[in-house]
This record gives sequence, C-alpha cells and structure tokens, in this order.
Amino acid sequence: MSRDFALGRRALDSGARLMVLDTARSTNEALMQCAREGERGPLWLVTSNQSGGHGRRNRPWISAKGNLAASILEVMDAPMPMLATLGFAAGLAAQTALCTISDGASTGAAGRNKPDFRLKWPNDVLAEGAKIAGINLEVEAREGAQAVVVGIGINVVAAPSEVTPPATSLAALGVSTSAEAVFAALSDAWAWWRPLWNLGRGFPLLRNQWLSRASGLGRRVAIRSGANLIEGIFAGIDDQGCLIVDTGEHYVPIAAGDVYFGEVASMRAEP
Ligand code: BTN
Repeated sequence: MSRDFALGRRALDSGARLMVLDTARSTNEALMQCAREGERGPLWLVTSNQSGGHGRRNRPWISAKGNLAASILEVMDAPMPMLATLGFAAGLAAQTALCTISDGASTGAAGRNKPDFRLKWPNDVLAEGAKIAGINLEVEAREGAQAVVVGIGINVVAAPSEVTPPATSLAALGVSTSAEAVFAALSDAWAWWRPLWNLGRGFPLLRNQWLSRASGLGRRVAIRSGANLIEGIFAGIDDQGCLIVDTGEHYVPIAAGDVYFGEVASMRAEP
C-alpha cells in the first residue's frame, strides 16, 4: 500500500524527489543519515508505518500504522535565526494539506461540520482543540551549509489516547482518507509555502498568514519551559518566531516551551 505514495503536481514541478519506505524507525533519522552520506535534497522520505519517531525536545512520537510520517531534506545556506522560522512554513503546509483533504473527503455522518484546523505555537496543528499534527525540525552543519530535515507527522487513522495535550485523527473527526492522499496534498502545500519562506526573507508574510490561522491569539496562555512558567496574554509572534506574552507589565519573547491555553493555562499543568 505504501508504494502508492506519490508527490503532488506542484511538488513534482518544484523538482523535489521522493523515497518511500514500507516501514521506518524515524523518517527524520533516515533522511539525516542520507545527508551525512552526501544527499542534498530536496528529497522527501515517507512511510505509513513508523516505529520510533521522535518529536520536539526528544519526546517520542507515537504513530499508528496508517498514519503519515513524512520528512523533507534540504541542504541550504540560511542564517541560524532564520532557520528557526522554517517550522512556521511547515505548520502552514500541514494545516493547508489538512484543509484540502477535509474539503475533498467525505466527512462521515451527514450534517457533520468540516473540522477547523488551527496552528499552535510553535508548529503543531490542532483540530477542534486537539493535536492532529506535529513538526520536528532538525539541523546539522554540512560542508559550510546546513542539512535541514523537516519532519511532519499527521494522525490519519488514529491518535494516541490519554495524552496531554489531547490528540485526535482525521478518522476520529469523520474524515475518511489515506496517508497517501494526505501526503500528496502535503507535498504540494510545502511546494507552495517553502518558496514563500525564501530562506527566511519571506517570514513577515508567513507570520501574518500563520497568525490568521493561530489558536489562542489574544487569549490567556501559560508557557512552561523547564522549571520556568510565564503567564499572560498571547500577544503575537516576533520577527524571530518567538511567542510574545503580554504579562501586564512587559512583552516577553519566548523562544521555546509548551503552551497551555485558557483553563489549562491557569492549572500550570506539568506535561
Ligand atoms: C512533535 O509534535 O513533537 C513533533 C512530532 C514530529 C513527528 C514527525 S513524524 C515524521 C518525522 N519523523 C520523526 O521521527 N519525527 C517526525
């Protein structure tokens, strides 16, 4: 079945190539290994059976068979602070792909609304408030440039249960589709957003697009980063991609952390 993966039309035209695996431990790991062996990309690696995926901050990414695990490698020469903003292009690509798929797919029970896909800083996608996609960007120095692997996991057929924050899948939302269809849409969406990012020069435009699809803008937020907890109002994103918290006294830029909104924000929950 996984041999049916193919790039979308726009992705093909962009010059990207595709490698498909029946199973992989981690598509990010495997692609970074290709970069160490001289691959420069852009090259997608995709599977619907990933057994040892990893997420941000070295957390495991649990993915049921039938979910999408896709990574793209590109060796590029972009300044480090700019590279951090590439994750926003990936979030926009994942959100665009999910909208495309749910617009085109049958949505189960009659009268069921199309899901509302929102972006959660730094680069998760939420559907009805639960996580449906995660992104992990990995960078290694390679011959004066950077090998960048952008890994995107999308819950197509199932989501892990009893996780914090809660997770969902396209199937749970009534969207009947396959990892292959989601990948074709994702590769095309990436071929749209990646050139707009333009090695970071396009980030001001992307930031506006991202904020228009953001979850929790203007709402109460708590960010936990290690032992630190910052609370306030989610006021925006700065030009480095940091989340800006209005504490009432200062605007504080946050570079990394776990975000909690609303009720949960005031619980100060440990992840
Ligand atoms: C996160 O939410 O923390 C990010 C999860 C990223 C998971 C994807 S699945 C494809 C790629 N391969 C990996 O090992 N990780 C990413």
